[in-house]
Amino acid sequence: MDNTVGFGTPFWGEHGLAIMIESPSGRVLLDTGASREVLLHNLDAAEVTPSSLSALVLSHAHRDHTGALAALLERQPDLPLYAHPDIWRERYSRRGGRVRAIGLPEDVVEPLRAAAPRLDVQPQEVLPGIWTSGEISERPERDAGDAHLQVREGDTWAPDPCRDDMSLVLECAHGLVLVCGCCHAGLLNTVRHVEKTFGATPTAVVGGTHLISAGENQLRHTIDALREYGPPALYPNHCTGQAAFAALAAAFGARVAPFPAGTTSEF
Ligand SMILES: [Fe+2]
Ligand SMILES: [Fe+2]
Repeated sequence: MDNTVGFGTPFWGEHGLAIMIESPSGRVLLDTGASREVLLHNLDAAEVTPSSLSALVLSHAHRDHTGALAALLERQPDLPLYAHPDIWRERYSRRGGRVRAIGLPEDVVEPLRAAAPRLDVQPQEVLPGIWTSGEISERPERDAGDAHLQVREGDTWAPDPCRDDMSLVLECAHGLVLVCGCCHAGLLNTVRHVEKTFGATPTAVVGGTHLISAGENQLRHTIDALREYGPPALYPNHCTGQAAFAALAAAFGARVAPFPAGTTSEF
């Protein structure tokens, strides 16, 4: 699931993300997207039954990634779940005096608790060769400056540190593949974390890169740094933003491809 849909495919889109990883040892779903209607429709279109999934990893709490969780658990109550311990925290968007709750939806909190998710700040091996990144604890790179993402601390508001943000790391034939949810920890911070924790930089990056709120200088810096990493093949979608996608494509040409709902890539 993505904000955009591949032309001529039967898939539906919405602001949200879900990516299914099919490996020799099973199927792992990263995130659920925002709504049960779209998730169930797209699973059906992909001829994937919820009971055929081996695990679900939540990249972070935001409801455009967790909104369809209850629908999935109704159909597969034993589904093993993986996330970061900070997933429970209430999260808000505060813009121009308007406050919106954007963390786990109310109808998701109880089913998630009942499903006893495996919560860990360390990387967890979900299936052979499929790992959660663990917490991106070192963030030397400037973050995207998402001042509107906030949490409550007592009576006051504070910037959301997005500690719960994790990605997936896949050990593939030609190296590591990084699959991101929203990448609130920052794309470069996440790539560096993978290099440090898994011993190599990713040869490909798929998913939401959160470059949508990056300014021109930050985008240029990101492109320069990625160039030094190869650059990896990039399949950015969701919160990448059209301007960032265009800048990446201009810099790296055929190394960059869109990844709308209905896309399949083999690594
Ligand atoms: Fe997010
Ligand atoms: Fe998102």
